[in-house]
Amino acid sequence: MFSVDVSVTATPLANMDVDLLIVPVCEDHVAARLEELASEWGDPVRSAAQDFDGSADAAVLLYAQSARAKRLALVGMGPSGKAGPDELRRAAAAGEGLAAKCGAVTVGLALPTTGMEDASCAAQALVEGYMLSAYRFARYKTAPGKKEVSALERIVVHTGGRDTEEVSVGAERGRILAEAVATARDLVNISPDEKSATAFSGMIADLGKEHGFSTEVWDKTRIEREGMGGLLAVNRGSQEPPTFTIMTWKPDHAESEPPVVLVGKGVMFDTGGLSLKPTHNSMDHMKADMAGAAAVVGAMSALARLNFPRHVVGLVPATDNRPGEDAYVPGDVIRMHSGKTVEVLNTDAEGRMILADALSYASGYAPSLVIELSTLTGAQVVALGSEVAAVMTNDRPDSEARLHAMEEAGRRTGDLVHRMPMYAHYGELLKSEVADIQNISNRREAGSITAAKFLEHFTNYPWIHIDLAGPSFLKHVLPWRPKGGTGFGVRLLVEFLHAYDPA
Ligand code: BES
Ligand code: MN
Ligand code: ZN
Repeated sequence: MFSVDVSVTATPLANMDVDLLIVPVCEDHVAARLEELASEWGDPVRSAAQDFDGSADAAVLLYAQSARAKRLALVGMGPSGKAGPDELRRAAAAGEGLAAKCGAVTVGLALPTTGMEDASCAAQALVEGYMLSAYRFARYKTAPGKKEVSALERIVVHTGGRDTEEVSVGAERGRILAEAVATARDLVNISPDEKSATAFSGMIADLGKEHGFSTEVWDKTRIEREGMGGLLAVNRGSQEPPTFTIMTWKPDHAESEPPVVLVGKGVMFDTGGLSLKPTHNSMDHMKADMAGAAAVVGAMSALARLNFPRHVVGLVPATDNRPGEDAYVPGDVIRMHSGKTVEVLNTDAEGRMILADALSYASGYAPSLVIELSTLTGAQVVALGSEVAAVMTNDRPDSEARLHAMEEAGRRTGDLVHRMPMYAHYGELLKSEVADIQNISNRREAGSITAAKFLEHFTNYPWIHIDLAGPSFLKHVLPWRPKGGTGFGVRLLVEFLHAYDPA
């Protein structure tokens, strides 16, 4: 497990005894800030001014003899007027890049003395940015090198003269969230041969025990008894049985409260089934087709550890999608959990089949809201790329406010989402000749929206759909996000729920 000791100090900066001290500086305060630092670190800081302008992503490393921290990293935040959590996360991540190069074991993070009013929020962003950037996945490296493991053991956050209690709360929140994101990344990065639905459910149960949410895992017999025809149909081509995992977080005082239900797509590996995917740039990334489930599991872990004050349930329908000899075929008509019938025209549109059952099962909770996350469509990547997920909602009172709240949570966390429309005419593309609906549109256009329109058939409560096909798994690094699983959605969900008022 990725875990780091995080503490807070109000000692003078010069007294910080760390391998590297990271100091974020706003563009318009470079001169003043460097002059302050020069009183302890001396001329090296003055010389650094030549190479450091405080712009976003600017970073310099300097060495001095005078102060206790022998290395100092200046990292830029851009103009102070625009400096927010995202700038701080990026600055901390740039500092981590320098720390990794010098193998720093202990690191100091100085809260900026200008910009970012909210001390707790600033501390959270610094710790998150640093830890998210320090994440490594070395499970399968037999001789991990310096690049594959992080030397990091301890982070000390310097208050910069702000309220120590507030800084501590934010730093702790940042640590818990970054660890939950690391959990989600690990789950995505784990090799598919270790990730049968049963093994994955076992991992969820272990995380529940570790972090304090309860879990129930249904096996194939129970899934049959519940009539989850979509999940069973997708599973038919597989050697491994499906599972359905229910996670519950219910604080005592929330006994009778309708829950928020989180649903995550748990396709352990998506070959496409008989509608087989090509390997290159397609099937070769499909171990990540459970990233929605990973986000839900990460969020449940964080909510439990943060002692979140409301009732939350997580649901994960899980199976792989394979072309085994008993595989479901194009033309099959499936009776779903809700009782509706679906004509399967493409077995690669499997996510919606298993999610439909989870969504109709969710209605039994009379939920105040269901948020469902899935790596649902390649069309999402085409439309929005790999940094922004698509968000849609059904037409219910307050749907506008819900989309807005999710987009705002996205901006605060850097897990960006952008809305797509759900006009009724998109749904007409799913009319079937033989069944109630078909699982794909006959046209390629607007693929993310028709997928969401399919899912909408199985909801009868306020529902937010997030298609994170692009941002859940990267083939190139981004600030604070590595290649591979990103843990997208974990912090987004927690941030959204934090601000969410069911009334
Ligand atoms: N898991 C894929 C979607 C996906 C694509 C996720 C790329 C991540 C990256 C999903 O099950 C799928 O295969 N969708 C099809 C739907 C089509 C058959 C209507 C797609 O997007 O091509
Ligand atoms: Mn598919
Ligand atoms: Zn899929």
